[in-house]
Amino acid sequence: MTHQPPLGEQPPEPINPHIPHPARIYDYLLGGKDHYEADRAAAEETIRRAPQVRESARANRAWMRRAARYLVGRGVRQFLDIGTGIPTSPNLHEVAQRISPDCRVVYADNDPVVLAHARALLRGSREGRTAYIEADVRRPDEILRAPELWRTLDRDRPVALMLSAILHFVRDEEDPAGLVATLRDALPPGSYLALSHTTNDIQPERAADAAAVYGERRAAALMVPRPRHRVESFFAGFDVVDPGVVQLPHWHPDGPVRPRHLDEVWLYGGVGRLGTG
Ligand SMILES: C[S@@+](CC[C@H](N)C(=O)[O-])C[C@H]1O[C@@H](n2cnc3c(N)ncnc32)[C@H](O)[C@@H]1O
Repeated sequence: MTHQPPLGEQPPEPINPHIPHPARIYDYLLGGKDHYEADRAAAEETIRRAPQVRESARANRAWMRRAARYLVGRGVRQFLDIGTGIPTSPNLHEVAQRISPDCRVVYADNDPVVLAHARALLRGSREGRTAYIEADVRRPDEILRAPELWRTLDRDRPVALMLSAILHFVRDEEDPAGLVATLRDALPPGSYLALSHTTNDIQPERAADAAAVYGERRAAALMVPRPRHRVESFFAGFDVVDPGVVQLPHWHPDGPVRPRHLDEVWLYGGVGRLGTG
């Protein structure tokens, strides 16, 4: 009989430097240093086809931090962040714990490079807690069954589910709405969803051309930009808070929104509170 290691204790996937990975491409776009030649070449080709993609990445990271601050302001102290990315300070737990040191964060990602850097995500405040699960969002049941999840978070208190720039790596055949619903149904009352997603609404042809790089280079995941109504549909069962699902610069901006920024940021984002009905 073959021995199956318990969930969460499987050996990590080996790092393959020869195929581009979303986390490493994003790290390159953000000016990080954790990427290989294949990632850099794919990122550069994406920039050639859609030069504003770097600005989109920066705007997404900034949105994630604004959403985290908003949620802590609403009393949320627990986060499940799926599709964490390579640590880029300040990370989610740093943003949340700076406001309220008792915040708890469970991170999950399927890229072995993110796992290799997970230690940076586990250094939190003394009062708070963080944990890391190596997991795939396309298998939400495994995330929900991972021992670290409810060992770190309290099942009786609200949780903010963060899906920041991850669902566009899930193809329609993989049922992105269904996996969000599975995660939603496991959340305690009063929980939230914060989600951002690449769109093809702004410049459809260029968005398709840039996204095609992932397929042409046989990246670890394909990129699927979606129109606004599809992104809104992921909030089924949540009451979306103001200002709705909008281009990221419009979501609770810290200052005036530059009109040109709206041409550059090809992502929507929003926050919803779990409905009571
Ligand atoms: C663009 S980065 C976003 C990072 C971070 N959430 C942020 O918004 O700054 C997308 C992340 O999703 C992860 N990812 C992509 N597909 C995934 C999957 N099927 N399961 C888990 N993580 C995935 C990638 O490894 C990468 O770290």
